[in-house]
Amino acid sequence: MPRTFVICKPDAVERGLVGEIITRLERKGLTLSKAELRHIERSTAEAHYAEHQGKPFFEDLIAFITRSPAMLMVVDGPSDAGDDTFAIVRNLMGATNPATAAPGTIRGDFGLVVTENLVHGSDSDASAEREIALFFPGL
Ligand code: RTP
Ligand code: MG
Repeated sequence: MPRTFVICKPDAVERGLVGEIITRLERKGLTLSKAELRHIERSTAEAHYAEHQGKPFFEDLIAFITRSPAMLMVVDGPSDAGDDTFAIVRNLMGATNPATAAPGTIRGDFGLVVTENLVHGSDSDASAEREIALFFPGL
């Protein structure tokens, strides 16, 4: 699928790293087809992270993602790419825990703790379409 869903999380907006993150996506050759700065509502956050409901970190995750505005983005890749766009973005993001994420990745270069890991990227084509429909109905 040529598109995926990306969030610059509240810590990225607060720290002024949105431009840096978008620059990295664009330099890779990806493009934005939708972007909106939005304070995510609790109900939307719970739906977005439904797979994590009941896990020990769930409350911290919801509190974090709803604490201040986030930059919501639909990111397009080349239609003939061998790799799916979601996987290209996940590679640029780095591992979930910034403490161990590889240098050169967004999380590896700018993060320190697992909750505040700067960026979200869909983990499959199906997730991307589900998340785009949740945040941008009708797109
Ligand atoms: P995301 O969904 O935000 O893009 O992150 P991800 O796929 O790399 O990681 P995921 O397993 O989906 O976890 C969602 C978010 O929950 C927080 N987390 N905390 N304390 C913990 O062990 C733990 N595990 C996950 C992270 O902030 C992660 O981004
Ligand atoms: Mg995830």
